[in-house]
Amino acid sequence: MYFYLHIDGKILLCFSSSICVCMFIVFYWLDLCRMEGGNIRQWLNFLVCALLFLIAEASYVPITYLQNAVAKGAVCLDGSPPAYHFDRGSGTGINNWLVAFEGGGWCNNVTTCLSRKTNRLGSSKQMAKQIAFSGIMSNMQIFNPDFYNWNRIKVRYCDGSSFTGDVEEVNPVTKLHFRGARIFAAVMEDLLAKGMENARNAIISGCSAGGLTSVLHCDRFRALLPGGARVKCLSDAGYFINARDVTGAYHIQQYFSQVVATHGSARNLPQSCTSRLSPKLCFFPQYLASHITTPIFFVNAAYDSWQIKNILAPGVADPEGHWHSCKLDINNCSPDQLDLMQGFRTEFLRALTVLGNSSYKGMFIDSCYAHCQTEMQETWLRSDSPELEKTTIAKAVADWFYERRTFHQIDCPYPCNPTCHNRVFGPEDNHQGKNVTSKGTSDASARKLNFPKLTNKVSYA
Ligand SMILES: *[C@@H]1O[C@H](CO)[C@@H](O)[C@H](O)[C@H]1NC(C)=O
Ligand SMILES: *[C@@H]1O[C@H](CO)[C@@H](O)[C@H](O)[C@H]1NC(C)=O
Ligand SMILES: *[C@@H]1O[C@H](CO)[C@@H](O)[C@H](O)[C@H]1NC(C)=O
Repeated sequence: MYFYLHIDGKILLCFSSSICVCMFIVFYWLDLCRMEGGNIRQWLNFLVCALLFLIAEASYVPITYLQNAVAKGAVCLDGSPPAYHFDRGSGTGINNWLVAFEGGGWCNNVTTCLSRKTNRLGSSKQMAKQIAFSGIMSNMQIFNPDFYNWNRIKVRYCDGSSFTGDVEEVNPVTKLHFRGARIFAAVMEDLLAKGMENARNAIISGCSAGGLTSVLHCDRFRALLPGGARVKCLSDAGYFINARDVTGAYHIQQYFSQVVATHGSARNLPQSCTSRLSPKLCFFPQYLASHITTPIFFVNAAYDSWQIKNILAPGVADPEGHWHSCKLDINNCSPDQLDLMQGFRTEFLRALTVLGNSSYKGMFIDSCYAHCQTEMQETWLRSDSPELEKTTIAKAVADWFYERRTFHQIDCPYPCNPTCHNRVFGPEDNHQGKNVTSKGTSDASARKLNFPKLTNKVSYA
């Protein structure tokens, strides 16, 4: 397996991301050598190359705990301090800020929230001390040409409510804290003080439950940043739609209403929605999106694998497990199941129409079986990454952000797009949120922790 990278007119044939970086550095230094000559320099090349080889394999960013947030009651489900990973910007990116919120589903009642207290989705005590940044989070120009030198922050998720909860009381028995909205506020206050108050460009982003966070907090984020800054929102796999499941039940609506009730989220959801609709609906982007005034971009698969697994065919709607193998691998779906998935796509596209076609609202809606495509190198930017109109997600998002062009593309129906990287899940991936490992960032992103490699987990359609 191999892929190509095009850099400055050079074409590199790469066998892995790190070897690619290595070759890039060698070429770059050889160019310099040709100009300056000298054997010592060539040895230096080799050393730098070897060094970068190591760095590339381990671009880990350490965790920062917000100890002083505890006094404000801004804490994880178990009462531990919130946390983030912060890679400082440099050069032209020094005043640019990308704040990405981690995903990881939700907890909808005391039982499911309690089960998070002992893992990283409910306690910073269980979080990995460092995580790798890739895709839009990467610090390497070749992998992330428009954001690599920004200040990049990954905010860890430990509240179970997409950062919307705020219940004052702490149940004396369960000791659960529902304080996601306070974590959001505490993190913002901290980052503003660390230089974000001088931002020239800023993006709030996130994937999955974090992609929903960037929708729900989009205008609030904008309001916190300097008036003259270019501030936009990016939601990756965060456009969860209010669709019925295969039995006709409104399973996801009921589930979200339980999340909102458990966490006391109502007053932290956008008022432009809650003033018109029931708060439980205001957890769905389709009911808020037309009222978001800050520019926002949606990257989403029309057959988002989380939504197929949990909205269209959740376990409760499929007690006999007819959907089991289809949910693991779209290649296993029967014609009837594919029909239902096409119907889901139709509903998904209908739910998107509220966005209209304003250039403020961008979209990259591919027809892949995927979930989260911006923080993985293989789907963000590589020669074989998913494309719409011959454009990668990295280019679409950056062109839209910098107003080089608008981007508003909806893919043709599955299986028309040969650039898709359709997810194939192992059996262990099917227990959403039930058995989260204590380290890492999420089931889906556990594999993203290393610089991307071509593995048999990814099938090329
Ligand atoms: C909590 O939610 C889960 C998942 O929806 C459900 O299976 C469980 O029955 C609920 N528990 C209670 C006590 O409501
Ligand atoms: C996009 O918006 C313009 C008006 O701003 C409208 O004339 C046009 O028909 C719209 N296109 C689509 C595809 O909705
Ligand atoms: C959860 O993970 C633990 C440790 O990896 C494993 O022993 C256990 O069987 C898993 N439970 C389920 C329900 O998958």
